[in-house]
Amino acid sequence: MRIGVIDSGIGGLTLLSRLTKEFIGNDFIYFGDTLNAPYGNKSREFIISRIREICILLIKKKVDIIVLACNTASVTALNVLKSEFDIPIFGVKPIIIGDNNVILCTPLTAKSSYIEMAREKGCLIIEEPTLASEIESVAPYFCALEARMRSVLFPYRESVLHLACTHYVFLKTIIKEIFPNIEIHDGYDAVVASLKPYLNTPTNRGFSIEFLLENAKLGRKYSRIFDELQKI
Ligand code: DGL
Repeated sequence: MRIGVIDSGIGGLTLLSRLTKEFIGNDFIYFGDTLNAPYGNKSREFIISRIREICILLIKKKVDIIVLACNTASVTALNVLKSEFDIPIFGVKPIIIGDNNVILCTPLTAKSSYIEMAREKGCLIIEEPTLASEIESVAPYFCALEARMRSVLFPYRESVLHLACTHYVFLKTIIKEIFPNIEIHDGYDAVVASLKPYLNTPTNRGFSIEFLLENAKLGRKYSRIFDELQKI
């Protein structure tokens, strides 16, 4: 099977890495929309129409399934686009569990009806207008954001924290080291569970990845970051 994976930039590589480990034997095409990043500061209308265009492009490239490896795109566009295409489309979003949930997300995610429902259920929402871009600019030296995370998350050091932006998942290890009592979730288990009925079971065939990016230099950077993620 061919799986199209979409994000605004490097964030989705964290989910791509998990998917290649869970579903070895399939082929992946990764679309990093760096020309339009960050998604989190765009309008709902823009994200829906841009994700629609990328889905059409990936379908022309014969993907069988699409995964929005981007919380912002998922909570904004998934429900609209699911009904427009014949192939299955999935997306990552925070899954609320128990009490004391804190959701760290982009401004557009914070505005969505999905997060509004979470807010009504008592979740605390922290909107981060620039964090995804900061992560892009320090990559692959994510430790540069350690002090920033220490100050943002100090009040929530005993909470259930949802990294509701795939970019933030690069900071998981750092956050865990600074605040060992934070319970961190990224929503990836739910994506894996929903893909399972559709995808080939693991084989010895391995997998392939094609990167669709702005330029070849970026392609080399993404490959290096992906290789590092595969070691975790
Ligand atoms: N990685 C994305 C997300 O999960 C988008 C971040 C951005 O481009 O603002 O929300």
